[in-house]
Amino acid sequence: MQTVISPIDEQSLERAKNIISSGGLVAFPTETVYGLGADALNEEAVRLIYATKGRPSDNPLIVHVHKDFDITRLVCDIPGYARLLAEAFLPGPLTMVYKSRGVVCPAVSCGLDTLAVRVPSHDGAQRFLSYLDIPVAAPSANVSKHVSPVTARHVYDDLNGKIQLILDGGKCAGGIESTVLDCTGKVPCILRSGLITRDMVAQVAGECDEYHMAAGEKVRSPGMKYKHYSPRCKTALFKYEDRFLALDRYRECTAQGSRAVIMCDDAVAADMEDARILSLGSSESDIASNLYDKLREGEKIADIIIAVAPLKQDGVMVGVMNRLTKACG
Ligand code: TXA
Ligand code: MG
Repeated sequence: MQTVISPIDEQSLERAKNIISSGGLVAFPTETVYGLGADALNEEAVRLIYATKGRPSDNPLIVHVHKDFDITRLVCDIPGYARLLAEAFLPGPLTMVYKSRGVVCPAVSCGLDTLAVRVPSHDGAQRFLSYLDIPVAAPSANVSKHVSPVTARHVYDDLNGKIQLILDGGKCAGGIESTVLDCTGKVPCILRSGLITRDMVAQVAGECDEYHMAAGEKVRSPGMKYKHYSPRCKTALFKYEDRFLALDRYRECTAQGSRAVIMCDDAVAADMEDARILSLGSSESDIASNLYDKLREGEKIADIIIAVAPLKQDGVMVGVMNRLTKACG
């Protein structure tokens, strides 16, 4: 199968619609990472997502809808706080989990009685969803366990020959996947951290819990139990306080003839003397936005990525640290 990368225009949207309505998959941009979309009402098409990514069949998918889509067609029991949150943050990088009406096919939620719904803000995603006018099930458009894609080229590198069309909407500005928020309880609960932080949710909803899996408990967000986001080279992760140990490690690796690179923010980079640096930038949003791009660059140019955590660990950095730990820890 030939994989085409196309800018988003009338012609490529028409092609996308034809592919999706005949049960195929189309990759599309969002403000977080690229998604691999299929018709959420077509069981075969949804199964094809799992097969194409090599995704475990117990890790449920998010359904993406256009901003004018009436989500009460898909879910019920929407609590008051969820309406406030939707008003405050949607369209945007917040996925909300509700009780499902069972309208989308069971493979989307892996048999759970809940459904994760997301309204992406990326203009290309909105155009795609409006053109199709159906709920689109989509995970990140990478091979399972690899780093999520933030450019059309990243999608191509993982899925070339496996899908027909990649809609190119440029580099994703957000850079890490959406916050997943369980809205089935009295208080909203973060299942996966992201750009919409716990404080931001709490400010609108009054309170916000954060889920941590207890030993022996049945996991509430199945995706969280898998190793994720791994680059295809060796990795090491150092705390901010241990940044000079990271520099020692870099020198050791280099002395042994291994191609090493240090991935860190600009504040840390200032202490790294003449080491080869993959810079994440300096602001929180830059660090999130550059993380996957730099991990993918690193695996191409180095035998080992030596990551150093930023000093700041709260807010958006909770989501960044979660990915960094899974990628390099
Ligand atoms: O930003 C994003 O969310 C991207 C873009 C493409 O929209 N999508 C994404 O999808 O990251 P994926 O499949 O890589 O991650 C979906 C996450 C998983 O951790 C999964 O366990 C959780 O959402 N999830 C999906 N449905 C769920 C449900 N019904 N209950 C709890 N967690 C759910
Ligand atoms: Mg993913």
